[in-house]
Amino acid sequence: MSVFLDACRLKETEYTPVWFMRQAGRYLPSYRKIKGSKSVLEIAKNPSLASQAVADAVNQLGVDAGIIFADIMLPLEGMGVEFRIEENVGPVVSNPVRNASDVANLDEFEAETDVGYVFDAIDATLAKLNGTSLIGFSGAPFTLAGYMIEGAPSRELGRTKGMMYRDPEAWSALMRKLTKMVKQYLDRQVRHGVDAVQLFDSWVGVLSPSDYERYVLPYTKEVFDSLSKNVPKIHFCADSAGLLEEFSAIGADVLSVDWRLRIGEVWERCGDELGVQGNLDPAAAAAGGDVLDRGVAEVLAEAKERRGHIFSLGHGVLKETPPENLKMVVRTVHDRTRRKR
Ligand code: CP3
Repeated sequence: MSVFLDACRLKETEYTPVWFMRQAGRYLPSYRKIKGSKSVLEIAKNPSLASQAVADAVNQLGVDAGIIFADIMLPLEGMGVEFRIEENVGPVVSNPVRNASDVANLDEFEAETDVGYVFDAIDATLAKLNGTSLIGFSGAPFTLAGYMIEGAPSRELGRTKGMMYRDPEAWSALMRKLTKMVKQYLDRQVRHGVDAVQLFDSWVGVLSPSDYERYVLPYTKEVFDSLSKNVPKIHFCADSAGLLEEFSAIGADVLSVDWRLRIGEVWERCGDELGVQGNLDPAAAAAGGDVLDRGVAEVLAEAKERRGHIFSLGHGVLKETPPENLKMVVRTVHDRTRRKR
């Protein structure tokens, strides 16, 4: 069986599993070769290239899981959102959603017709992975709403909070539409055979705990509750220290956290019956050397070989990271946590 899936299910494992967000990215020469002058969206829409990018990363790094090659923005095309992914910036939306009528005008998402290529890519990726676990994913309603409303990446998400506070009806209408889309999208991924799913609520750490409970938690919980019990569910948020107690109530099996908190604190605050993924600083992985050795040792010391630890970075791999550094992390974590038998 899979060490990664066993860890998600809090089972005793032979060693601590490892994988990295954005492990199939620009830091990897084989990915740059696949990419050439193509956009990330073109690669995601080409099942042969998308599956190759995932398999290359898994094979070269020796990680315990791969994540499907897609982008959180893709299903929004089916809802009528027009965007491009700008290099070193992120998603830029040309028709942002700013009011109740913009929300009402969104198209109905239809998974098979709108993102059929994602499911074809899942089939192709499973065929290339030889049994390594494959993680499906979606952006979470809040983080997707953030990109739709702001129109460009934003640190403060001021317009998003503006709609939330000033027009709660438009906000809940938008969240309902996104929740419906995310449920259908993840359900189809599961039916196509992904082994686990990760929900990226990357930017929801900008909310206070009570606003999270009021404006976001019910939708996130609806997504997780709707999915098959047999598939582990991972929730990711950057800067999540203020919301851990709230996250323990959304129905996720694993919380993925970044480096701004000690990983042991997640279990201390949420209880031991939860998987925790993370949380090395990606900048330490890029830096390498003693800084990286120390970072890996600190995360392992904090996790204390608890059941349910999945070693990862606190966020995506930075593009200046030498691939050798990540290979070293995988080897080190596997070796140091291997049970003596
Ligand atoms: O191995 C993998 O992780 C690849 C699959 C993947 C991509 N995007 C491909 C991609 C995944 C899991 C994502 C998720 C994603 N996309 C998130 C959630 C994760 C997170 O970081 O919080 C978000 C917020 C996005 C939106 C997005 N797309 C951003 C912020 C960027 C970076 C822009 C930049 O140039 O720095 C992208 C582009 C993107 N998506 C790249 C990749 C491999 C890099 C650009 C490229 O290869 O052309």
